[in-house]
Amino acid sequence: MHVTTPLIIDTDPGVDDAFALALAAASPEVELIGVTTVFGNVSLENTTRNALRLLTLLGRDDVPVGVGAARPLVHPHPHLSSAHGSDGLSGFAHTLPEPTRDVDGRDAVTLLRELLEQADRPVTIVPIGPLTNIALLLAAHPHLKPKIGRLVVMGGGVTGGNVTATAEFNVWSDPEAARRVLVEEDVPTTLVPMDLTRRCAVSAEWLDALAKTSEVAKTLVGLTPDYLATYRKFLGWDGMAVHDAVAVAEAVRPGILTATAFPVDVDCAFGPNRGALVVDQRLEVDAPKTLGITLDADLDGLRAFLFDRLGALGVRQ
Ligand code: RIB
Ligand code: CA
Repeated sequence: MHVTTPLIIDTDPGVDDAFALALAAASPEVELIGVTTVFGNVSLENTTRNALRLLTLLGRDDVPVGVGAARPLVHPHPHLSSAHGSDGLSGFAHTLPEPTRDVDGRDAVTLLRELLEQADRPVTIVPIGPLTNIALLLAAHPHLKPKIGRLVVMGGGVTGGNVTATAEFNVWSDPEAARRVLVEEDVPTTLVPMDLTRRCAVSAEWLDALAKTSEVAKTLVGLTPDYLATYRKFLGWDGMAVHDAVAVAEAVRPGILTATAFPVDVDCAFGPNRGALVVDQRLEVDAPKTLGITLDADLDGLRAFLFDRLGALGVRQ
């Protein structure tokens, strides 16, 4: 009997978030039981509108969308011109279908709580934006931790950042929340840092080929121009990082990424390293808590997996 893994994605769509949601929708190993939205790439209003429209595009209006935090736990979110365009989807959010339903009546933390309470087997939660909602959930409902099979978090940079020299965007957006979730809580967690996700970047040719596989894939690729332009500069070649889809790939196929356990901390001080992930790579360290940090993968195999799944979107809709 095929037992699926219940999956909840906490997201700030976001172009790579769009690819992550599509991968979840196209993967029979998981049952997408909920999506929660958070501020991040763009405002909460925009990330929520984008999540609703993307789920309609993917034929998944059955998935409840819980609206989460509009701002970080403690300090204001420094405004950035988004790498994802003004609407979070390269200015093409309007090309997505109008949602056929509204957000769920439950806010993100309430939806997360009720889905965990109702789950008959451990739930995988994949946060792919700032960790504010997850920090709030774990603070308000610690008794539900045993219902979480694992967190697969896209975030952090071990050897450098993308929003500052040392900080990656998701952790930088709410360092206090990231520290709460990654350091202080004791939920089984796999961290997918940008060191690996940027190595899994896909080329413009890859995207062009994907666009030819279905109308849904073509619409998805149509959301990439601003993001691709940002990453063309960041990577130095004509490609873009699908950070969030790499994290979902690990949730769909555990072990597709190679993880090593390290203790981590998050720099929450106000200084040049605020939001930096601090990884203690002294392997001999006897730390009370470690995270599985995915620093390697079969990159070509992962890109082929992503193409295979996303290339079948039109078939499974
Ligand atoms: O640093 C990459 C992360 O920040 C991704 O989740 C992307 O969507 C942005 O939120
Ligand atoms: Ca994201």
